[in-house]
Amino acid sequence: MLKPQSISRRFRAFTTYVRRNRPFLGKVFKQYAWNTVHVRLVKRTRVVEPLSAIFYVTHRCNLACHYCTQKYPDILSQEVSTEKTLELLRLIRPQVGSLYLTGGEPLVRADIEEITREARELRFSTILHTNGKLLDRHEKILDDIQSLVISLDSVNEGRFDSVTQSAPGTTRRILDNIVRYGRYMRDTSRPMTINCVIDQRTVNDVYQVMEFCREHDFIFSCCSALKNDLTQYQLLEHAPYQRLVEHILDSKRKKHLKINGSPEELEYILRFKDFDCYPTLFARIYPNGDVYYPCVPLKTVGGNLFETSSFKEIYRRAREKYGDIPHCQGRCHLYSNITSHFYVHKFWNLAREYK
Ligand SMILES: C[S@@+](CC[C@H](N)C(=O)[O-])C[C@H]1O[C@@H](n2cnc3c(N)ncnc32)[C@H](O)[C@@H]1O
Ligand code: SF4
Repeated sequence: MLKPQSISRRFRAFTTYVRRNRPFLGKVFKQYAWNTVHVRLVKRTRVVEPLSAIFYVTHRCNLACHYCTQKYPDILSQEVSTEKTLELLRLIRPQVGSLYLTGGEPLVRADIEEITREARELRFSTILHTNGKLLDRHEKILDDIQSLVISLDSVNEGRFDSVTQSAPGTTRRILDNIVRYGRYMRDTSRPMTINCVIDQRTVNDVYQVMEFCREHDFIFSCCSALKNDLTQYQLLEHAPYQRLVEHILDSKRKKHLKINGSPEELEYILRFKDFDCYPTLFARIYPNGDVYYPCVPLKTVGGNLFETSSFKEIYRRAREKYGDIPHCQGRCHLYSNITSHFYVHKFWNLAREYK
């Protein structure tokens, strides 16, 4: 039985914690409470409400990374007109405040500036994920977004040109854009993240990418390359990969540079620990308004936002049709999937990291 002093000490610690972490908790606490009751305690469902919308604005791309599954997805979705795309944003906004623009390569869309302007007018908190090659042609969009993520697996120009299967000089241009626009983001107090995909071919290049991030004060984010949407578990037997993982975890612990994720999340991502996936936390929307249920790798579309504008209703119907989210023991270790596990099961670990 807890002594009264101990209860009061714990209560004081809790209220101090809540006070300190109010910005993070305020945004997501209601949803966390719902998940705790319905998903963890009552176990009524594993379909959680979306926290953010991941909008794949196109499947087209100006690069051809050898591991990419988004450029030629299994279920192709056609882009709709600019007006219809803006309408999609208006349908999404009352349901979620956070928008993640990705693709394919978002900047190959001729109307990308109209899309980000509309997102700004709708007061979305927008994250743009790009390969960075065309940023110098679309500088304007930087004023519409809250956070920028650029992909970079190697600073070795020849090697990254080969990963992206692009003409010599492409990586040089990407690096110049990263430095120039990354500085702009940093100087305007907005996060600039480098997303590094780890693959056997580039495993030894990641150290330099980390050093590049440290030098420029960018956030380093990483995950391993999935093959056909599946985690390549054999990487765990690969000595250079093991060394790299140790280096990343150690750099995180010693705060050598800013690394995305809590130390425990990184362990899950890089050491492929089993996790429970809650893919509806990040609603995945394809260019034509299709919403995936339960997730893209399972290749099932739950509904289309132009026909059913509510995520909740799309997921309700999809759950009736396809059943609840399967327990797949986490076979695709992507960042958002691991975050969904932490969001439901290790919320306080996330809360500490993202305060
Ligand atoms: C599909 S791309 C879309 C945005 C943009 N074209 C880019 O490359 O940044 C989004 C992210 O997914 C990563 N990605 C692509 N294929 C992957 C795979 N097989 N496994 C892990 N990450 C992958 C890319 O490196 C990129 O950082
Ligand atoms: S740049 Fe992005 S979308 Fe294009 S091939 Fe590479 S990972 Fe895929």
